[in-house]
Amino acid sequence: MKKMTNIVIFGFMGTGKTTVGQILAEKTGKIFLDMDKIIEKREKRPISAIFESDGEAFFRDLERNLVRELSEKEDQVIATGGGVVLNAENVSDFEKTGLVVCLMARPETILARVASQTHRPLLEEGDKARRIMDILAARKKLYESIPWTLWTDDLSSAEVAEAIFRAFEG
Ligand code: S3P
Repeated sequence: MKKMTNIVIFGFMGTGKTTVGQILAEKTGKIFLDMDKIIEKREKRPISAIFESDGEAFFRDLERNLVRELSEKEDQVIATGGGVVLNAENVSDFEKTGLVVCLMARPETILARVASQTHRPLLEEGDKARRIMDILAARKKLYESIPWTLWTDDLSSAEVAEAIFRAFEG
């Protein structure tokens, strides 16, 4: 039986996973890990280059392997990438290790947050607003399948972190 010491943050791109995770790590004294950053460091290239040279399926395999690795460890706050939810085993692996939460936001909130950014390959293929709507619609059921979803549109990152902290402390 694994100890439930991790906090794992799921959610669509631009829902604030990284910022909230960093605040939570400070509050709890746990180590903060950003899955995208770990993959980029190990691959020695940005995610956009991984998608371009090796394709999305290759990136999803990297994510899957990293979930396996991290779900064996304890006392981490983990910000997942927005697509980690695509593989149900990723969710169930993390559920065995601690509190799992999915940050949610309306498409217009997400658009406002990512409008000036260009590092997400899936949002660079055509009109950003359209891409957000389409990908959100395709993944809606997956995000909603996570037992605890937290709407972030009207909350600051500190407020979101506080809500998760309170749930974790029980
Ligand atoms: C992706 C989200 C990104 C990153 C990659 C793919 C997705 O992470 O993993 O660009 O499929 O939703 P963020 O959610 O941290 O932007």
